[in-house]
This record gives sequence, C-alpha cells and structure tokens, in this order.
Amino acid sequence: MQTEIAHIDPMQPEPALIEHAARLLRQGKLVVFPTETVYGLGADALQPGAIKQIFVAKGRPFSDPLIVHIADEEVLETLVVHVPPQARVLARTFWPGPLTLILPAGPRVPRLVTAGLPNVALRMPRHPVALALIRALGSPIAAPSANRFMHISPTTAHHVLADLAGRVPFILDGGPCEIGVESTVLDLCAAVPTILRPGGVSLEALRTVLPEVQPSQSLPRSGENASQAEEAGGMSSPGQMSVHYAPTVPTLLFEGTLETMRAAMLAEIARRSAQGEQVGVLIADEDMPTFQESGARIYTVGSTPEQVATRLYAGLRTLEEAGVQAILCRDFAEAGLGRAIRDRLRKAAGGKVIKQR
Ligand code: TXA
Ligand code: MG
Repeated sequence: MQTEIAHIDPMQPEPALIEHAARLLRQGKLVVFPTETVYGLGADALQPGAIKQIFVAKGRPFSDPLIVHIADEEVLETLVVHVPPQARVLARTFWPGPLTLILPAGPRVPRLVTAGLPNVALRMPRHPVALALIRALGSPIAAPSANRFMHISPTTAHHVLADLAGRVPFILDGGPCEIGVESTVLDLCAAVPTILRPGGVSLEALRTVLPEVQPSQSLPRSGENASQAEEAGGMSSPGQMSVHYAPTVPTLLFEGTLETMRAAMLAEIARRSAQGEQVGVLIADEDMPTFQESGARIYTVGSTPEQVATRLYAGLRTLEEAGVQAILCRDFAEAGLGRAIRDRLRKAAGGKVIKQR
C-alpha cells in the first residue's frame, strides 16, 4: 500500500483536504491525523470493518480498546447508556482537550471498539484538524495513537511514517503536536473516579472540579519490577501495561536528587563507554554543562514540564534512530504534567529504574 502524506494548515485546515480524508474514512479506510496530544490512527467508529483495520495496521491485540473522538457534546448522549453529572461538568471544563472519559457504552458502539468491555472511552480533542475531520465525516472517529503496538506515540508525521509507512493510506501532516503526551484517561465507571493513565490534564486540574479523583494505581514504583507493579496495581486499563510506550533500545531511568542522579548517569556512561557502547542521554537544558564532555549522544528536552512533555517522545525516537545501545533518562518532578512525564519514562524504562539517595 502507498502511504500518501498531505501537509495541512493546523490552525485553518484546508476544506478540500479535510473532505478528501473524510471520504476515505466513509469508505472504511484509515486516516492518520494530528491531535493536540499525539497523532491518531483514525477510522469511522461506527464501521466495525474499518475498526478492525486499525488493529491490523498497528499490530495491536483486539483486547486493547480504542478511544472514540467526538466534536460536539450532543454526540456523547448517542454513545453512552447515560451521562453521569460528573461527566457533564468535566466535559464543560476540559473539552475540547486532552481528557478521555470512560463511560457506560451504549448499543451503537461496536464491540471491537470497546474490546468487549461494557464501557467506552470518549474524548473531544481540541486540534482544529481533528475537529474538522470528525465534523466532515459526520460520525465519531475511533483512534489509538498512530504508532506500532508497544512503541512510542508519534508527535510528528515523520514518527508516524517511521512506524506505519505502507500500512496506512493517508496521513494529514499538521506539524508537531502541542502537548506531546497522550490524554488523561479518567474512569467514571469505577466507584471512585480514578485516573487510569495520567496525561495532558493534570490530577490537580481535575481535582478543582472533582476533588475525589484518585491518581493512577498502576504506576510502577521505582526499584519495582514492571510486572510486579502490574500484579500489585491491577490492570483496569489494558493499555496501562508498563512496557507499553517503550523505545526499541534498552532504556534506564535515573531518580534521586539532581546531584546523585547526574553522578549516577555519568558513572553509567563511563562504564558503558569503556565497553565500547554508544550511549544516549535524555536530559533537561540545565543538565547540559554536566554532560557535554561525557561522550554520550545528548538530547535536551527543555526545562518546564510543558517543554519536556512536548519533546519527550521526539527525544526517545531521535536517540533510538541514532543507533545508541542504551538510553539513559533523568527523572522530572511530579507536579502538573510531570506526573504523565514520569509515567511515560517509567514505562519506557520498563521498570529499569536506578534510584540514588
Ligand atoms: O491522547 C490520546 O489519548 C491519543 C489521541 C490520538 O487521542 N490516543 C491514545 O489512544 O493514546 P491509545 O489507544 O493509544 O490509548 C488509549 C488508552 C489505552 O490505555 C486503552 O487501554 C485505554 O485508553 N482505554 C480505551 N478504552 C478503554 C475502556 N473502555 N476502558 C478502559 N480503558 C480504555
Ligand atoms: Mg497508544
């Protein structure tokens, strides 16, 4: 299959391009499109034949359910059994935006979308291209991140091509994604509203609206093996498997104070370099003086949580493509978007966390 790429204006998408993409979706084909979080691999959510192709293109097991993207709040009613009052408040506050709500699925939602679960994941993205595409199709769009199963989510069309060239017919290239990590998945079917995946909307922000929101339980803690964490924390969201967002290169996460973290990373670079390994490091801008003479291949992700989130996946992919034998990552503070960043770093490391006091 030939993969066609079209550049689209991310702020004012060209109607002819949107119409072309909507026509493909109507025909049951797949279209990759930008969202404010990461690129999505979309299909008409109401066509089971089209949904099936998403799983095939990604190499994703049918047991992992998909997020359904909508562009208007009225559509919510048509996809769920009922809309709990908390869902309305959250939607009014955070939609369009990087929040996915788990709600009881209505009969219109194909079983392939929910992987047979009684609940459906719904989100209204705020990217103009995503919104225009959903409206032009006139139907909700089911879309996981547009990467191969188990790989890092794509934040540019180049990342999508690296994973899915020849496996999807059409990519709308709207430039780099603004947020850079996926949406927050919030389970409103649990006894207490619980975050299944930290993401673009922080725990703090959710609690301003719904103080009882509980943080994700399945985060692998440092020093704890990924599979142990899964056993301890359960897996209420199948995509919460801790190896989910991993680069193809062994990745280590360093935790501790700034000084101990940097020292341990330098020691690891020296040890590996002595064995002839080429090492990549993912660091903040202010770490640069510490590492510039280390011989490691360096990728800096900025300083603020917003900058780090935006550059994180590009950094992991760049180091991976550079052919390094190991990627060493520093840890970041947990406030705000930091919670999602830490979650993704721990998943990238698959439990290989080195903690210094
Ligand atoms: O930002 C995002 O959420 C991006 C963009 C494209 O919208 N999408 C995305 O989709 O990250 P995906 O499929 O890569 O991740 C969706 C997550 C998975 O962890 C999945 O298991 C969970 O949401 N999920 C989907 N439906 C669910 C359901 N009914 N119950 C529990 N978890 C669900
Ligand atoms: Mg994904």
